[in-house]
Amino acid sequence: MATTILKGTVISAPSLGKLDITEGGYLVAVDGVIQGVYKTLPREFASCPVEDMGNDLILQSFSDMHLHAPQYPMLGMGMDMPLIDWLHTYTFPTEARFRDTDFARETYRRLAAELVANGTTRVCMFSSLHREATLILMEELEKAGVTGFVGKVNMDRNGGVDLEETTEESIRETERWLEECHFEHIRPVITPRFTPSCTNELMEKLGQIAGEKDLPIQSHLSENAGEIAWVSQLHPDCRQYWETYAKCGMWNERTVMAHCVWSDERERKAIKDAGVWVVHCADSNQNLISGFAPVRKMLKEGIKVVLGSDIAGGDKISMFDVTAASIRSSKARRIMDNWNTDFLTVSEAWYLATSAASDFFGEKPGFAPGNPLHAIVLRDDDIISVRKLTAAERFERCVYNRQKNAIRAVYSAGRKVYSAQ
Ligand code: GUN
Ligand code: FE
Repeated sequence: MATTILKGTVISAPSLGKLDITEGGYLVAVDGVIQGVYKTLPREFASCPVEDMGNDLILQSFSDMHLHAPQYPMLGMGMDMPLIDWLHTYTFPTEARFRDTDFARETYRRLAAELVANGTTRVCMFSSLHREATLILMEELEKAGVTGFVGKVNMDRNGGVDLEETTEESIRETERWLEECHFEHIRPVITPRFTPSCTNELMEKLGQIAGEKDLPIQSHLSENAGEIAWVSQLHPDCRQYWETYAKCGMWNERTVMAHCVWSDERERKAIKDAGVWVVHCADSNQNLISGFAPVRKMLKEGIKVVLGSDIAGGDKISMFDVTAASIRSSKARRIMDNWNTDFLTVSEAWYLATSAASDFFGEKPGFAPGNPLHAIVLRDDDIISVRKLTAAERFERCVYNRQKNAIRAVYSAGRKVYSAQ
């Protein structure tokens, strides 16, 4: 029996807007599974070694619920166009490079290392359409200690010459990929890129595969006005964008839809009623001039909202930065709404970045007993303050401002996957 005991200022988000703070607390895991957070160490663990982190913060690690691995090489570039032009000018040519498996290996190894170094230990991620590169991505994530879901992208139209598959190829390669996926912590997710990239025939088949194999689904929804207009041209039978997924069996409580910036009341009701997950990608929504999603309203309506970096529409891999961006975005939205909507508080945004996706991964929010240990140890002793800060103040500050090399260690699924030199 392997026991991990971390001692420090343990902070977790058990529900939206609530923080549990235990100063000098013990976070205990046995065989990688959390037993509890204790103010005094239970007697049964008295003889176990304790990793004393002093005054460091012990936080939940992040779930990045929407990002594009093959866009990693263009991170921070090409921010001068809206979505559709951006896809054709920069993104598709970049993704086409992942036909080259050596390039994929090198890129994905570095991406996986950067994710864990930034405290992201769970993902819901897009690969490219390439089966081999997708398997390499899954392997590199698994090795680095990232857990979650990865999808081979499907796109049988509108990709251009270098990034398109025929309908038959797309189905065959998807089925083959699913047969070849044998990883412990990385599982497959069905991934039609978005409606303009997939014919009806392909979408129907993907919906059928997801249903038969009981797989989750991820895609994009109502990100940008031009995209929405394009979808309505392609699907005159559908009143709204979401119906193009729903009619193909891809609209359920394991469907993850990125953006939803322009989802109106009717579309949001369809999201809520089906239990679809919305991934808010605040950085990307600004970079690609898409808009400010009404996230606070969605939460009030009972929609399941989580956060995504959406690299490389988003330019920040650190979910600390993505969390801060989601707060700023909610304030911009408040301005647009004539101050009639609330903004996200720091602890609310933190919940979205950490606990909110727990149900998607079959876990409970916070450091709940039974959850696999996913945690960040964060040092903040080298930032000047005018007085001694409370743990809650230190927590709030760390979202916006961290010292150099603040992350001391990262644990994923019970394993230490990163340690600062
Ligand atoms: N819609 C379809 N593909 C993409 C993509 O790669 N990024 C973003 N932000 N939106 C998309
Ligand atoms: Fe995206």
